[in-house]
Amino acid sequence: MLIHVTTLGDYLAKHNATPAVKSVIATLTHTCEEISELLKRGALADILGEAGNQNVQGEEQKKLDVIANELLLNALANNKYCAGVASEELDHATAANCGGEVLVLFDPLDGSSNIDINMAVGTIFSVLPYNNQGQTATDDDFLQKGTEQLAAGYVLYGTSTILALTTGDGVVMFSYDPNLRQFILIKDRVNVPVDTKEYAINASNYRYWLPPMQRYIDECNAGEAGVRGKDFNMRWIAAMVGDVHRILTRGGLFSYPFDTKFANKAGKLRLMYEANPMSFIIEQAGGASSDALNRILDIKPTSIHQRVPVVLGAKNEVEYIKKLHVEMG
Ligand code: AHG
Ligand code: MN
Ligand code: MN
Repeated sequence: MLIHVTTLGDYLAKHNATPAVKSVIATLTHTCEEISELLKRGALADILGEAGNQNVQGEEQKKLDVIANELLLNALANNKYCAGVASEELDHATAANCGGEVLVLFDPLDGSSNIDINMAVGTIFSVLPYNNQGQTATDDDFLQKGTEQLAAGYVLYGTSTILALTTGDGVVMFSYDPNLRQFILIKDRVNVPVDTKEYAINASNYRYWLPPMQRYIDECNAGEAGVRGKDFNMRWIAAMVGDVHRILTRGGLFSYPFDTKFANKAGKLRLMYEANPMSFIIEQAGGASSDALNRILDIKPTSIHQRVPVVLGAKNEVEYIKKLHVEMG
């Protein structure tokens, strides 16, 4: 029996996006296949453990943060459409090809605390237009709102390797077939239900949250007897890619809210290569994404590594959290 499958290549060939966007998506996803293969070999490929240095944000780099970053950088440097790249693991943006038409931002390895315990990690990417073609790209060229994104996606290295992708026309999902060495389409209209009974948050930070977020979680935890009138379930993967993937699969609410744990940090997640691409994906799947009050995609970035509070997923929950923040000031 011949089973017809749609590969990522087939999908892109028919899809309405510019050659530049299609080409960088192909480059990114090919590189993620390599990262996926390395992860599968784990300790046998000597990729686990600390790299022994810190990134620009003062975080300890894991070996795989560095390896994934270099693989992506090298691949994109050889893509003529790519004018520049920005990464969690680079202090500043790096110019690629000045004739390029797009800029690519990525978190090469999201959830890196999960690497050494054999749990889910991912790669997140965002593609922006390059508006100074012919000139060398600088950090300033990247500081565009999330609404300007031409494409966004993530690859989740879980029990299987999954790609979720948007170019502004809904969200499609692919699963990597290691035998065919191809991403195969598995879902072509991903939808996030407007309501949910499941939330994801690092509850150990409760004492650092603002009162409206404490109230929201208190109300969820009060269950059927409380004002929400229903029992909630909690899940936390410690990799945004994993938590967002669960929401695209069975709905839910994810938050890494504002907290006072560290001075001068508005939140933990980075606007340009975590919150923006994930917000684009979630909105394209019918969900919502905010910093508790404002739409993430409308925030004008001021720096590449800027952090932002994140509340995303089921539309009615995101709106309810905003209502609590407005009412409680
Ligand atoms: P990264 O590994 O790229 O630094 O990102 C990890 C982020 C995010 O993916 C996740 O939701 C969060 O950090 C986990 O934070 P906790 O350590 O508070 O669980
Ligand atoms: Mn991350
Ligand atoms: Mn990372």
